[in-house]
Amino acid sequence: MEKHVTKVKKRVVRQRVLSGDRATGKIHIGILFGALTNWVKLQETHECFYEIADLHALTTSYNHTEGMKERVREMAANWIACGISPEKSTIFVQSRVLEHTELHLLFSMITPVSWLERNPTLKEQVKDLKLQGKINYGLLGYPVLQAADILAYKADAVPVGEDQLAHVELTRQIARRFNSIYGHVFPEPISLLTKFPKIPGIDGRKMSKSLNNAILVDEKLEGIREKVMRAFTDPTKIHKEDVGHPNGCVVFAYHKLINSQKSEEIRKDCIKGKIGCVSCKEEAIKLINKTLAPYREQCVKLKDKNIDEILKEGSIRAKKEAGKTLKEVKEVMNLW
Ligand code: TRP
Ligand code: SF4
Repeated sequence: MEKHVTKVKKRVVRQRVLSGDRATGKIHIGILFGALTNWVKLQETHECFYEIADLHALTTSYNHTEGMKERVREMAANWIACGISPEKSTIFVQSRVLEHTELHLLFSMITPVSWLERNPTLKEQVKDLKLQGKINYGLLGYPVLQAADILAYKADAVPVGEDQLAHVELTRQIARRFNSIYGHVFPEPISLLTKFPKIPGIDGRKMSKSLNNAILVDEKLEGIREKVMRAFTDPTKIHKEDVGHPNGCVVFAYHKLINSQKSEEIRKDCIKGKIGCVSCKEEAIKLINKTLAPYREQCVKLKDKNIDEILKEGSIRAKKEAGKTLKEVKEVMNLW
């Protein structure tokens, strides 16, 4: 009899997933194929929490808060257009769930600065944004806030790209340290690494809105054309007959992404000098446009939907869950 009960329970209790992104507004196809398609799938098997991290956005954009709410709305609308369902998942805004902020402070008491200083993501950011000697307290504590995001929900798993693995590892370290000091409250979440090739931006660097090289999910045909026409190809292939090197070519990367079967043909034709870059680009434009059409349509439809209402409801739901954890945390820490 007991055996039967545990069996049923196992089927009902789903593992919990939490992931998020900094509130930067509309999303690009690198995020769509690299993260969101995976998030969408996870909705079927896990209890999912997806967070728009507006506080994390402040770690580098604290002086650009105008338009922040709009960027949150745009990101939410894009997520939903890409298949994240407010019925299946909890979509919420970080700054609306104060528990994150409180847990961040409590974690900051037990996190050695040396752990944060050796964070590879921080080192990279300092280099990219020329922040040497100008690191704010909040930026140093970025992974502590991320640990609070994840652990406030006692998430079992965190779907992330490679660049976030160090942050999830730090989350595990903080959870372990907390548990050993105050008693067991937190599980140690695992990363679900999204194995997807990095999609290059049109200039060959990593696709990123801040680098101005991104194709957006709701990009219209004219936008796609303008961008793909400017995209980097093999610089040694000038005439159609020239032998091309598709492996280093951005346009080929898009072909592979969107039409892996036909891309083999393109690879051969490029190498044999049977196709020129202009017609290859034309083909890519057509394919990208066709692939993005349903997302674009969804984005238009969502314009009439009340995104604010969805975010409000999601944030209330999130707050309820995070509140339960905070209660436990304060209890074991002997706080009021
Ligand atoms: N740091 C993540 C990024 O830059 C965004 C993020 C914030 C996040 N909180 C999170 C990701 C919690 C996973 C879990 O993409
Ligand atoms: Fe790239 Fe296509 Fe030109 Fe080959 S033909 S270099 S794959 S754009």
